[in-house]
Amino acid sequence: MKGRVLIIDKDREFSERLRDELRVLGYEVLAASNSKSGIEVAQAFSPSVIITDTFSVGPDSLSALKELRTNQPQTPVIIAGDQSSIETAVRAIQEEGAYHYFQKPVDAEKLRVVLERAVELAEARRENDILRKQLRDRGAFGELVGNSEPMQKVYVLIEQVASSSASVLITGESGTGKELVARTIHNLSPRRNAPFLAINCSAIPDTLMESELFGHEKGAFTGAVSRRHGCFELANTGTLLLDEIGEMPSLLQAKLLRVIEERVVHRLGSRKDIPVDVRILAATNKDPQTAVADGSLREDLLYRLNVIMIHMPPLSERIEDLPLLAQHLVTSLAAKHSRPARFISPAALDALRFHSWPGNVRELRNVIERAVVICSGEQIERHHFAPYPFDERQRQRAEDTVTFPVGTPLEEIERQMILRTLEKTGNNKTKAADLLEISLKTLHNKLNSYRARGLLHDK
Ligand SMILES: Nc1ncnc2c1ncn2[C@@H]1O[C@H](COP(=O)(O)OP(=O)(O)O)[C@@H](O)[C@H]1O
Ligand SMILES: [Mg+2]
Repeated sequence: MKGRVLIIDKDREFSERLRDELRVLGYEVLAASNSKSGIEVAQAFSPSVIITDTFSVGPDSLSALKELRTNQPQTPVIIAGDQSSIETAVRAIQEEGAYHYFQKPVDAEKLRVVLERAVELAEARRENDILRKQLRDRGAFGELVGNSEPMQKVYVLIEQVASSSASVLITGESGTGKELVARTIHNLSPRRNAPFLAINCSAIPDTLMESELFGHEKGAFTGAVSRRHGCFELANTGTLLLDEIGEMPSLLQAKLLRVIEERVVHRLGSRKDIPVDVRILAATNKDPQTAVADGSLREDLLYRLNVIMIHMPPLSERIEDLPLLAQHLVTSLAAKHSRPARFISPAALDALRFHSWPGNVRELRNVIERAVVICSGEQIERHHFAPYPFDERQRQRAEDTVTFPVGTPLEEIERQMILRTLEKTGNNKTKAADLLEISLKTLHNKLNSYRARGLLHDK
């Protein structure tokens, strides 16, 4: 089915002829004879495109069109009118956002072309709608969890690239979610119902990689006992993620570039052209420019792949996402292992927050998975993470550090510094005054003034 078309036209003969023609072209078509029934039909039928004359003539023509457009804001409206209606039609396009105007008798070939474009537009608008819905709660995007600014930027980029077939290069440290981003792009793209395949170039021996990618014929090399389809053929009409692209042998990178450009593959041991339509996503945990400089990534391939780049921040740079991520992981991993864990205690969460996470979300996932499995109650405690070696040193540093946003009033900085120093010295005022290099009397005066203004609550 090429799309759904609703014809709203009082001229029965015209609309029946058009209906038959469009059905032959592969459209699903319904017809209504006036605007009121047209709007009703449209609500149930959700047409991709509406073709109508009803709004091109008559005193109320534009208000009727307005009503239709309000009910079907995403549906392109093509007007087919007669000579007398040109003026209204122009206004319909300029003021009410009608898509196109045809004068009857309508040229079938021209209509076919315009209709195809209108259906494409309707489809693009619909996909955008789906994306928006998924973006509504920015705490998560598909399976990606995180609310931080760097993640929001990632979501916007994914939204922009998903509907096209453009290549995307995803960079970032190991465990930051590159593969998950690739899956999300695929799931939000028009290819979502076709296969998504990921091939990890660092996990496949160089000698097997070519056959893995392009396939081979029986007998192509020793051990090739039967014909095999490569990833490109298997992912046809879908998406292929080339993970750790810098680990692919240089010669193969050159072949890959040719395949991407010519859109045909040859199985090993065969000269036959096999056309493929595959969207290529690539990922690397190295800086691409450095990889080019040290010769592990071909520059021409980088330029071909790097149409759009998405960089995944390390977890330590979006640590504000940690509580959300941790909770998400507890929920999903408890379900996976049928365990009772539901929450993480504040102290346990603190322990996670002060770790530096060199292994990023993957490391967090492993830590939480282990805790979920051994925790027999609803709440995960600090000791469920033992003997995991968190960077306690960093935690110490965090406890001894006070940070302020730029522009914090000096008086507020002074107050917090005094209170934190007192805390650190176990409320020993002489020691605190010493550290702060003020007199004990000044310290007392400051504390009294805080107390008077309700800024200090003695325990
Ligand atoms: N933003 C995120 N939200 C939820 N899970 C994530 C996120 N980022 C990574 N993960 C999880 O962390 C693990 C590692 O992610 P992955 O995409 O394989 O990382 P990479 O490919 O960068 O090494 C996976 O289990 C993935 O589901
Ligand atoms: Mg990976």
